[in-house]
Amino acid sequence: MVQATPFLLMLSLALVAPGFSARKQCVLSGRWVNDLGSNMTIGAVNGKGEFTGSYHTAVTATRNEIQLSPLQGSQHRTNNKGQPTFGFTVNWSFSDSVTVFTGQCFVDENGKEVLKTMWLLRSRVDNINDDWKATRVGINIFTRLPSSQKE
Ligand code: BTN
Repeated sequence: MVQATPFLLMLSLALVAPGFSARKQCVLSGRWVNDLGSNMTIGAVNGKGEFTGSYHTAVTATRNEIQLSPLQGSQHRTNNKGQPTFGFTVNWSFSDSVTVFTGQCFVDENGKEVLKTMWLLRSRVDNINDDWKATRVGINIFTRLPSSQKE
C-alpha cells in the first residue's frame, strides 16, 4: 500500500491535469547559432531572470579582428507561461559598438527551440552630423547547438 501511493499520485496527476504533462519548455541557457553563423552561449538564468553569456559574431561592420564578446540580458518574469520574451546587450570587445537584441524563445511545430530576435547595432561616429547613419537594424533566428559541438 505504501509503495502504491507515489504511483497512484502520478497516475491521478496524469489523468486530472494533462495540461501539466510533458509540454516542452523553451530554455535560454545553452549554446546557439544564428542564420549568419554567429554563436552565443547563455549561462544560467537566475531567480530575477538575469543572465550573462558570450557572443562570437560571424560578421562585423568594422575592419577589426572579431573577438569573443560579453553579453548581459534578462528574461521576462512570466516565464511560467512558457515561451518567454527576453532581451540582451552585446558590448563588443573589438569595436566601439553595442548591439541590443530582443526576442522570444519559441518551441516550433517540430518541438525545436528557436529564438526569434530583432537587433539594433549602434556604431560610434566622431561627429553628431553622422548620427543618422550610426544605427543598423535587423533580425536573427537562433537554433540550439548540440552541447558537444565546438565553436
Ligand atoms: C561590430 O561590427 O562593430 C560588432 C559586431 C556586430 C555584429 C552584428 S550584431 C547583429 C548581427 N548579428 C550577428 O550575429 N552579427 C551581426
